[in-house]
Amino acid sequence: MSRHEPFDFRSPEDLLAKASDLGIELPFQTDLSPLLEEITLGWKKIGNRLAVQPMEGYDANPDGSPSDLTFRRYKRFASGGSALLWFEATSVVPEGRSNPRQLWLHEQSVDSFKRLVAETRMEANQSIGADHDIYCVLQLTHSGRYSKPEGKLQPHVAVYNPFLDEKRENLHILSDKKLDRLQENFVDAALLAYQAGFDAVDIKACHGYVINELLAAFDRQNSKYGGFFNNRARFLTNVVKNIRQEVSQIGIAVRMNAYDGIPFPYGFGSSRDESEKIDLTEPKQVVSRLIEEGCSLLNITAGIPYLFPHLGRPFDRPLPGDPIPPEHPLEGISRLLSITADLQKEFPEIPIVGTGYSWLRHFSPQVGAAVLKNKKAAFIGLGRSAFAYPEAPLDLMEKGKMNPKKVCISCSRCTEMMRLGGTAGCVMRDKEIYGEQYKKLLRERNKQ
Ligand SMILES: Cc1cc2nc3c(=O)[nH]c(=O)nc-3n(C[C@H](O)[C@H](O)[C@H](O)COP(=O)(O)O)c2cc1C
Repeated sequence: MSRHEPFDFRSPEDLLAKASDLGIELPFQTDLSPLLEEITLGWKKIGNRLAVQPMEGYDANPDGSPSDLTFRRYKRFASGGSALLWFEATSVVPEGRSNPRQLWLHEQSVDSFKRLVAETRMEANQSIGADHDIYCVLQLTHSGRYSKPEGKLQPHVAVYNPFLDEKRENLHILSDKKLDRLQENFVDAALLAYQAGFDAVDIKACHGYVINELLAAFDRQNSKYGGFFNNRARFLTNVVKNIRQEVSQIGIAVRMNAYDGIPFPYGFGSSRDESEKIDLTEPKQVVSRLIEEGCSLLNITAGIPYLFPHLGRPFDRPLPGDPIPPEHPLEGISRLLSITADLQKEFPEIPIVGTGYSWLRHFSPQVGAAVLKNKKAAFIGLGRSAFAYPEAPLDLMEKGKMNPKKVCISCSRCTEMMRLGGTAGCVMRDKEIYGEQYKKLLRERNKQ
């Protein structure tokens, strides 16, 4: 591992020279046409390979329905030209909300979600063209050990984890019965998502939330959801199977951590023999099972943001108080690219969305194009970049490049806002709204 450094590259040559110094073969090409190639998802043909990653804005109404700010966010994404919109983490039960302003899909909020999808699609058509279809995926979740439905932590833990828990005693471990019921909640929410007009639902299995925890529940004792592989994968595969049976018209996607960054037996995707190493044997087994059960779209990510945020979202500036990561951001990006490439190579039949491109700023299209060309992923997903510069795809279509003055600078302020309990957005590039909110949050914190 090499020293962490902020982004400081004037030219592609500078970037590639750094990669080469680090011993990284960074995919890179100037022909950006792969980004704008069509692809068919389900029955829908969409016009490009650019995906907006799921990004919580923490701005839902108290009843879980999208607020004006939520509408604004998705309309900006839609008018920006990305053909795949992966709507943010949306809770399937009230007690599993990550905060009192997380989206929550239920019988009473479904109509507002329906309006959100319709207006988002309309915006895409108005901005890009009547024939520009977008594919809308809704991420369904339970926030597990990070649940804060009323603003303070009310954890629902799948398994004791010494990297996350001080002690085993007094943990609120979800019972098998609760997990059985929770599976039904996911299926119910998938039906509502279908009614709301989403093309697909994502069963969120990443970033340390419940289903991700279950995949690594080696130490969950006397449970049909712990121990052996089949038990650990049971929840996720059951949900996919049951949605396929009961909501047959909706597409099924999974966003999965292929690597948690925690040693075996407490993390998923880690080598059993060498704790520092990645072992994709089990993630591949999961993907194989998911495809069998009817999953048709994957989004690959890594790390637990509360523990090692650099694994999933390489950045320049850590959150205030957090340590500087022990590696260069390009090493993190390279890890994400290679995990995704390995899975895409093994499973060419399923399109995979790649993660972790925002740190590359205006060079992300060149890296993404080479990744697509070499079939190392089927979509390039942009998270923080989409907050900062939602119209980047449109600029790529019209001008053939991204504007360096508009890109995400990976300053982590969007995450900081979220951790301060506020709404999340781009403080630097969407100043009018989020610059002001950020200042207000800091003032409130300083008063405490
Ligand atoms: C403010 C914020 C909110 C996020 N919300 C979600 C979410 O709802 N679901 C999810 O799977 N990942 C979420 N992520 C992670 C992103 O989807 C993405 O994986 C990460 O930012 C790395 O991609 P990037 O380098 O393009 O930003 C969030 C990240 C941030 C910074």
